[in-house]
Amino acid sequence: MENKVLKIALIGLGQRGNGLLTNLLCLEEVEVAYICDLFPERIEKIKARIAEANKPSPVGFANYEDVIAAKPDAILVATSWSNHVKTALAAMSAGIPVAIEVGGTHNIEDCWKLVDCYEKTKTPFMFLENCCYNRDEILATSLVRNGKFGEVVHCYGEYCHDLREEIAGGIDTHHYRLEEYKHHNCDNYPTHELGPIAKLLNINRGNRFVRLVSMSSKARGMNVYIDKTEKYANRLGGTHFDQGDVTTTMIQCENGETILLKLDTTLPHLYSRGLRIEGTLGCYDQNAQHVNIDGTINDEEFLQDGKFFQNQKEYSEYLSDDWRNITKEQMEAGHGGMDYVMLKHYFHCIRDHLEMPIDVYDAVSWMVVTALSAESIAKGSIPVEFPDFTRGKWKTRQPVDVIDLPKIS
Ligand SMILES: NC(=O)c1ccc[n+]([C@@H]2O[C@H](COP(=O)([O-])OP(=O)(O)OC[C@H]3O[C@@H](n4cnc5c(N)ncnc54)[C@H](O)[C@@H]3O)[C@@H](O)[C@H]2O)c1
Repeated sequence: MENKVLKIALIGLGQRGNGLLTNLLCLEEVEVAYICDLFPERIEKIKARIAEANKPSPVGFANYEDVIAAKPDAILVATSWSNHVKTALAAMSAGIPVAIEVGGTHNIEDCWKLVDCYEKTKTPFMFLENCCYNRDEILATSLVRNGKFGEVVHCYGEYCHDLREEIAGGIDTHHYRLEEYKHHNCDNYPTHELGPIAKLLNINRGNRFVRLVSMSSKARGMNVYIDKTEKYANRLGGTHFDQGDVTTTMIQCENGETILLKLDTTLPHLYSRGLRIEGTLGCYDQNAQHVNIDGTINDEEFLQDGKFFQNQKEYSEYLSDDWRNITKEQMEAGHGGMDYVMLKHYFHCIRDHLEMPIDVYDAVSWMVVTALSAESIAKGSIPVEFPDFTRGKWKTRQPVDVIDLPKIS
């Protein structure tokens, strides 16, 4: 198997399916042999892109069950959130390694089904949280592992992304976010910021999320955007959105750390994940691009001539090999290189029969924040307990990182 080209399937050929394809076309170890979407024109578009890259033509399907029957070597699922679990269950039951795209779940039962199916079949399952592989997040994790921040006490992360056009545009593109924002009020997309934090806090491996509390602001952004956007004003004017503009969630961990998350997707602002790690000896701040070890930067130095003091580059020896050796083409394949690094590791683990770097327990502990935050908000921001999806195994499971990190003495 090790040197064999994997014949893989890509299910869901919308925005993300197209983004994943750009990376897949750069990877010599895979052939996109099967593709699947509900819309025939999306299948044709992907076939044309694959032909343009001089790669063999894939077989197209409208139904994911036909993909599974074709027995690909691995499946990537990039469909709408509500479809991920049933596809993953069907793939695992058929013994086909499967990776699902990010997104939360409204359904705790689905989380248990994923865990039970994995434990029964032991079919490799991976959660495609690309931010766990991003340069900044890898650097922060490496600095933590090398003890530079002492004991980590608090972490912050946000998903600030102005998605008003994507959400309203669902009326034409069928994008699932439109219905999600109409009918749910929760942190619907917690994993980009929570995934890397959970990994560095060893969640499900000596630590666990215990409980959360969530709060949502009023919902105004979408209605103001729709009213001022001619193409939507008539068709979506007066739509009721349950989803508050800004949702904040506090999580308490078994080992005493706290995490603060912010979802902020319906107001005008620039993109940010804002990772911040605070420990007893130092702090990492993704937005300000600085590492502050035990007060080496003081408040006066921090803001010089109106510019933030940025010293992140001084710590590049702490990066993994993937990031030290990344090429321009790999970086340009999507999201600054993190997609390429993630997919390369996923296929490497499949070919060499290694444990998945982001496994089923990681996936469900992060996805369930959506369901738990909805419950907390609906009940007046009460604390809601996390299920222990490991059924006690978190106490003995050993910490592992998604990538080998350097040990600097
Ligand atoms: N990791 C990232 O950086 C990133 C970025 C964007 C989106 N995503 C994730 O990718 C997924 C897709 O998001 P998107 O923005 O591309 O959505 P999209 O609506 O553009 O694409 C989803 C596609 O799935 C297809 N689909 C839905 N149900 C299906 C089914 N039962 N069988 C076959 N095809 C089906 C739809 O027809 C559509 O073409 C989501 O989980 C999203 O959270 C991840």
